[in-house]
Amino acid sequence: MRSTNCRKTFRLIAVLAAFITVAFLIAGCNSGPGKTESSSVNGQKPGPVRIGFLLETLKEERWLRDRDLFVEKAKELGATVEIQVAEGNDAVQLQQAENLLTKGIDVLVVVPHDGQVAASIVDKATQANVPVIAYDRLILNSDVALYVSFDNVRVGEMQARYLLERAPKGNYLLICGSPTDNNAKLLYQGQMNVLKPAVDRGDIKIVAEQWAANWQASEAMKHTENALTQNNDNIVAVVASADSVSRGVIQALDSRGLAGKVLVSGQDADIVASQYVAQGKQTMTVYKPIKPLATAAAEAAVKLARGEKIDTGRTVNNGKIDVPSILLDPIIVDKNNLEDTIIKDGYQKRDEVFKTAAAGS
Ligand code: GAL
Repeated sequence: MRSTNCRKTFRLIAVLAAFITVAFLIAGCNSGPGKTESSSVNGQKPGPVRIGFLLETLKEERWLRDRDLFVEKAKELGATVEIQVAEGNDAVQLQQAENLLTKGIDVLVVVPHDGQVAASIVDKATQANVPVIAYDRLILNSDVALYVSFDNVRVGEMQARYLLERAPKGNYLLICGSPTDNNAKLLYQGQMNVLKPAVDRGDIKIVAEQWAANWQASEAMKHTENALTQNNDNIVAVVASADSVSRGVIQALDSRGLAGKVLVSGQDADIVASQYVAQGKQTMTVYKPIKPLATAAAEAAVKLARGEKIDTGRTVNNGKIDVPSILLDPIIVDKNNLEDTIIKDGYQKRDEVFKTAAAGS
């Protein structure tokens, strides 16, 4: 009799303990926004990792891939992602960061519109104890936790070297990217590493260097038209920093019957540029497989959210600190290896790439 009572009391205590544990966990999950002490268990918030992802734009094809592949990987890792797109506006991007921080995200991934201005996003996040990953573009003068990108100086070198080997003499036009994007400066640096000795030797002349606001094709077209007019169409190569601007360059060349005669570089292997390469209107592009980039960033985001360290073995100085960095390798694409690169990888479809090739060649 006594032992039956004992067992009953023991069971009651066990049920009560289980109830209290469940209630405690639910309270933890439902606690309000922000990273508060009361919402953490052993320094970690219960529930899935919450990632905030700030994009600058979704207008270029590549950023749609970045978004989709990042979300896919994050989901696979059990994390949730909230995305906001600033459409090239710094004030909007800061507001979106504040909004996500208020909602209690654990980690923030940012493609900054302006690498300088975005430092204030990192400051806000740091105050809220939320680590920031600079995605594809570095955020300068800030305590950013990680930088994940491609080697942009190498991309610039690849573009310039490819054109210089095929046009070792003559007038060159440089169509650079957005002046607010640190990548645009790194690309330019890489291009000049290669072109400067040829300029100094007197082999080539850079007739103009133009920066396209927000990487816009319309800007690139305008600058190319002006340069062609000023030089009586005497330009042998246009070093265009990305496909978003090479599109505008080729439109300007096309309207003068010069497409395919003037060498043009690019970057991103987007579908229009890939078609131009197939048609011979764009000489080369630089393919940056987005999957490894998005995957590395999503994995790092989850680790940082859990307070784990990321060991990259490489750093890039951002003016304030040496930022742990993951820099992936870019790949040259021209008419000869379209099949073995972007098509083989499934990055672009063969039918799409060659769709207009016959008409354009
Ligand atoms: C750069 C990026 C390029 C290109 C460009 C325009 O920062 O590295 O791949 O997409 O922006 O969006």
